Amino acid sequence: MISNVDNIVITEAKEENLQQIYQIEKENFNYCWSKDFILFNIKLPKNLKKFFVAKIDENVVGYIVCLISEKTSHITNISVKKEFQNLGIGSKLMDFIIKNLKIENFKSIILEARVSNLAAISLYKKFGFKEVRIKKKFYPDGEDAIFMQKEL
Ligand SMILES: CC(C)(COP(=O)(O)OP(=O)(O)OC[C@H]1O[C@@H](n2cnc3c(N)ncnc32)[C@H](O)[C@@H]1OP(=O)(O)O)[C@@H](O)C(=O)NCCC(=O)NCCS
Repeated sequence: MISNVDNIVITEAKEENLQQIYQIEKENFNYCWSKDFILFNIKLPKNLKKFFVAKIDENVVGYIVCLISEKTSHITNISVKKEFQNLGIGSKLMDFIIKNLKIENFKSIILEARVSNLAAISLYKKFGFKEVRIKKKFYPDGEDAIFMQKEL
């Protein structure tokens, strides 16, 4: 049964969320982040990253990771548990991080997506990201990435 997505709470990712994040990572990506790499990202200092989880009833249903330096920011992951996709959770995470970055005076956000990932590309366009260029063979299996940017 799917709980009400209005009950979503977005908070900073903690080590205790690691297992649930890894489960979602495995179900969504063929080349997924390892547990160690997720933990590495969780443990990065606050001045280098933003890592938020979306939770319903204390269960992680999605997350977003953004690396930051100076006034630029780079979304390196966004993922929603399969059974909760298409319910607006990805949008809530995106909205949350954009507001957070704006408050801190960041000037732009960049990201990459597989050219085949129409759901992700559509989400990014909805939030005003524009295609900058194609990065050829960006992924380990040789797929190209669309490189996108949003001015804040
Ligand atoms: C991409 C992803 C994070 C979107 O999260 P979500 O919670 O399903 O997204 P939302 O329900 O908020 O939908 C937001 C927008 O995304 C787009 N979208 C979502 N699912 C889509 C689909 N299956 N096909 C096309 N567009 C889709 C639509 O533009 C949608 O806006 P709309 O509802 O106004 O039409 C989710 O599909 C996911 O986790 N995918 C697997 C992991 C992944 O590919 N991450 C991105 C790596 S670059």
